[in-house]
Amino acid sequence: MQNAGIADMGLNWRYLAFDVAPEQLDLALAGARSMRFVGLNLTVPHKLLALDWVDEVDPAAREWGAVNTIRFEGQTSGGEWVPVGQAEDPTGFESIRSVGFNTDADAILRSIKEDLEMGLKGSKCVLLGAGGAGRVAAMKLASAKVSRLHLINRTLSKSEAVARDIQAKYPDVDIVLDYPRHGDSIDLLLNATSLGLKTSDDLPLDLEAINLRNVDSVYDMIYQPAETALLQAARASGCRTANGLGMLLYQGTAALEIWTGRPAPTDVMREALHAHVYGKPSAH
Ligand code: ATR
Repeated sequence: MQNAGIADMGLNWRYLAFDVAPEQLDLALAGARSMRFVGLNLTVPHKLLALDWVDEVDPAAREWGAVNTIRFEGQTSGGEWVPVGQAEDPTGFESIRSVGFNTDADAILRSIKEDLEMGLKGSKCVLLGAGGAGRVAAMKLASAKVSRLHLINRTLSKSEAVARDIQAKYPDVDIVLDYPRHGDSIDLLLNATSLGLKTSDDLPLDLEAINLRNVDSVYDMIYQPAETALLQAARASGCRTANGLGMLLYQGTAALEIWTGRPAPTDVMREALHAHVYGKPSAH
């Protein structure tokens, strides 16, 4: 995805994967800085650890406690900080600093809005899962001014903790720690649990408690398999559906924009990502 985007933008860059032991993250970041990397992405657990190793932290990364994107910036002789990837002469800097960003959280909302073509303001949502991904999704849905949010999780204490965080920051959102009443119509049901990654997994919801025919759209953060049992059931019930590939895409396009300062070629990157993950071009 990134190499397709980079090539399309006419940049002489390469995006490479490195296997770094968590206890050597500081060394790896220092090496990337010394080698004048433009930036990098980090995944779990590194994105949680990196907060301690970057020089500056963007507010979104601070809020989510995770850095998935780093941009290196060089200081000019005039004292100004310029992104290494946007500098005319990246070799001439006095010093280089690292800035940590988080592009995951916004990617959730963008994917829901664009891939399901829905607005979230005033909507009624059911969120399954209150782990790392579920917490971020819940906070982002609340920030998008949904009117009601049903939080469902195997471990109730975790959904209670998420509910408290939301009430403190977004008091207007009606939080319910249970399924909707029978017959209630729901705009969006979102799966943020890990159930569905394996074909032998149970469904992440209780179909006795919620009738998918009363649900307009279903989003599953899982993108492999492309259609989980939940999405299959949702499609059979006439729901609009989308999987989490869009989240992966949009965190990537946002990162490329942070490094380059230019709009990323989203369609080119979507095609490359789809072909890589599913081994075939997308149906778009
Ligand atoms: P992630 O970072 O992907 O969110 P996580 O923090 O481990 O990963 O969260 C996994 C989510 O899937 C949690 O909501 C978890 O429920 P618990 O909080 O009760 O652990 C949910 N989950 C995982 N396996 C499950 C299972 N077998 N049944 C029900 N929920 C499950």
